[in-house]
Amino acid sequence: MNLLLIGSGGREHALASAIAQSPLLSKLFIAPGNPGTAECGENVSLNVSDHAAVLAFCRAQKIEFVVVGPEGPLVAGLADDLRAGGIKVFGHGKLAAQLEGSKAFTKAICDAANIPTAAYRRFNDAAAAKVYIRQQGAPIVIKYDGLAAGKGVVVATSVDEALSAIDDMFAGQFGSAEVVVEECMEGEEVSFFALANGEQVLALAAAQDHKRVGDGDVGPNTGGMGAYSPAPVFTAALEAEVMERIIRPTAKAMAAKGMPCSGVLFAGLMLTKEGPKLIEYNARFGDPECQVLMLRLKSDILPILLACADGKLDSVKPEWNADPALTVVMAAKGYPGEPQKGTIISNVAEASAMPGVKVFHAGTATKDGKLVANGGRVLNITATGKTVRQARENAYAAVDAIQWPEGFCRRDIAWRALQS
Ligand code: AMP
Ligand code: GLY
Repeated sequence: MNLLLIGSGGREHALASAIAQSPLLSKLFIAPGNPGTAECGENVSLNVSDHAAVLAFCRAQKIEFVVVGPEGPLVAGLADDLRAGGIKVFGHGKLAAQLEGSKAFTKAICDAANIPTAAYRRFNDAAAAKVYIRQQGAPIVIKYDGLAAGKGVVVATSVDEALSAIDDMFAGQFGSAEVVVEECMEGEEVSFFALANGEQVLALAAAQDHKRVGDGDVGPNTGGMGAYSPAPVFTAALEAEVMERIIRPTAKAMAAKGMPCSGVLFAGLMLTKEGPKLIEYNARFGDPECQVLMLRLKSDILPILLACADGKLDSVKPEWNADPALTVVMAAKGYPGEPQKGTIISNVAEASAMPGVKVFHAGTATKDGKLVANGGRVLNITATGKTVRQARENAYAAVDAIQWPEGFCRRDIAWRALQS
C-alpha cells in the first residue's frame, strides 16, 4: 500500500524507517519530512494545515493509509477530515486529541473514570489561583491549559515561584488564562505507550526520558534530551495495573463521551508510593521515546498501526526485542532557548554504521550538499546493546564520531537505570 506519514522530527524518522521495512508497503511519502526520512521514502512539501490539500494529495497518489506523527495536526482535526474523505488514518480525531490539547479536559476524564492522578483545581482567575496556592503551600505545580510545546508547566518549589508563574500565564505570555494548579507528586517518571480504538486497548512498551537540558537532570525543561527502553522500574505487574486502572478506563470514558480514541495513548506516569498516577496524556508517540521503541520493535509495525485504525487491536501482538535501546539527543547550542542554526554537521553516515547504532534526524536540513542544523533537537543517536550500559557505550561512541562543534548532548542518559 501507499502510505503518507505526517511530521518532520526524530520520531517521524524512526517511524519512517520502521514502516519502510514492512513488506506491506509499496510507497512511502513523508510530509514534510527531513533529510533522514528522505532515505526511507519521498519527502513532499505539503502544507499539512491545509487539510483539503492533504486529501487531494492522497487521492492523486492513491494513498491508502495516513499516519500522523505530531500532536498539532491531530488537535487541528486532520485525522477527522481525512477520514471524512474516505482515507484510513492512524491518529486521533480532534475530540480525542483534547487528551493532549487540554490539561483540564484530561483532569475531568480522570475524575469521571476514577483514574489515579494528582489532586487539582482549575482556575481562570489569577486572584483565586493565588489564594489556593497560598493555602496549599509549596511544592506545587502550575499548568497552563493548552498546547505550550512543553513549556506550560512550572513545578514550583516555593510559593513565590508559583505566584509568579500565575502572573506570567495570566499576563498573556501564552495569550490566555486557564490554569490547572495541582499537587506535586513524588516518584520516578515513566513514559508508557498504548494504542486505543474506541474501547479497545493494546499495551506497547515503556521508556524513560530526560526532560532537563543538563547532566544530573538540572536546568530548563526540554522536549527530551534522551531516552531508554525498557524502563527497568516498570515491571509487568505495573504495566498490567496501568492498563486496567488508567488506559482502559480512559478509552472507555472517551468512547462513552462520543470522543473515541484512535491512535496512541502516551501516558506520562509518576510511580508514587501509592502506586502509578497519571501526570498527563499525549495523543502521539513520544519524541525521543519513539526512537527507542522503534529499535526494540521486532514485529512489522504496519499491521499494528492498521489494526489500530481498523479497530482490530485484538488481532495483533507486538513483539519486542529484550535488548535495551537508548537514544542521546544532540541539540544545537542555545537550545532550549534560541538554537544556533545552519551549522555544518559531518560524519553522520560513519556514526550510523557503527555497531548497534542508528542515527535519526530531527532538526536537520541539507544546504549546498551539506547536512546542517535546522532546529533545537537535531540528531538522535540511538543504539541497542545487551545491557543498558552497552547500549549507552555504543550510543556515545557514535556521538563522539560525529563532527559538530556547535552541538551538545547530555553525557548521563540512563543514569537511573545504571544505578539500580
Ligand atoms: P507535563 O507537561 O504535564 O508532562 O509536565 C512536564 C513535567 O513536569 C513532567 O514530566 C513532570 O516532570 C513535571 N510534573 C508535571 N506535573 C507534575 C506533578 N503533579 N507533580 C510532579 N511533577 C509534575
Ligand atoms: N519526550 C516527551 C514528549 O514527547 O512529550
